Amino acid sequence: MRRETAPSSAIGIFDSGVGGLTVFREVARALPHHPLIYLGDSARVPYGTKSPDIVRRYSMQAANHLLQRGIGMLIVACNTATSAALPALQEALDIPVIGVIEPGARAAAEKTRGRVGVIATEGTVNSKAYTKAIQAINPRTEVIEAAAPLFVALAEEGWANTHVAREVAEIYLEPLLDAGIDTLVLGCTHYPILRSTIEHVVGDQVTIVDSAETTAECVRRIVVDSPNEEPLHTFLVTDAAERFRRIASEFLERDIERLELVTLG
Ligand code: DGL
Repeated sequence: MRRETAPSSAIGIFDSGVGGLTVFREVARALPHHPLIYLGDSARVPYGTKSPDIVRRYSMQAANHLLQRGIGMLIVACNTATSAALPALQEALDIPVIGVIEPGARAAAEKTRGRVGVIATEGTVNSKAYTKAIQAINPRTEVIEAAAPLFVALAEEGWANTHVAREVAEIYLEPLLDAGIDTLVLGCTHYPILRSTIEHVVGDQVTIVDSAETTAECVRRIVVDSPNEEPLHTFLVTDAAERFRRIASEFLERDIERLELVTLG
């Protein structure tokens, strides 16, 4: 992929809630001086149980809001929104738009010995976006997709490392382990928040693919870090700002300074 000169404008990153922070964290590590604007649509989380039409409409509203703030690139840091809205966003926007599914699918296709498990939201699983993307690269790979919606609530609640999360993970992952998967894609950006719980359950024989890491790697290859001295990070939410501040600060291990409440639509 071509490396382009640094766009001085910010990169916009959006998700339904705190999940996209997993992508934000990796992008901030890869481009430590680049301005980033994060938008969490916390008023309307979860996206994973909503219809593709609604998710497309919400995604377009989030993208338009970020465009008004002058972003030069958009990362759709939500698998559900990527599966429902990526082509529509790419067609509607004049800036580069990157989704999280293609980078994760590519990494899974490269790493697997033949059987990939994908855990994701109901919307992403129903779209079969991962199966299509992985088999487009390697048609002989078997892909087993399973919805794990409670992981979103556990992440939003800050319960990622509790015994409740562990039991839920065992229930969701047992069928995939019984099916003999060798690679597991965390196909929802909320799920890396539960990564250590998930790793504990699947053990070290299963390779984990984190779509947040693979997407950040893809962005790093096409964007050159900006020369700004100080990274400028802005956070926008559509509801429950203080709750977002608490969970985001814990997850990013730093204080969230610039946080604004916004209305989309
Ligand atoms: N984090 C999102 C994803 O990657 C959506 C979770 C949700 O809102 O249901 O799919």
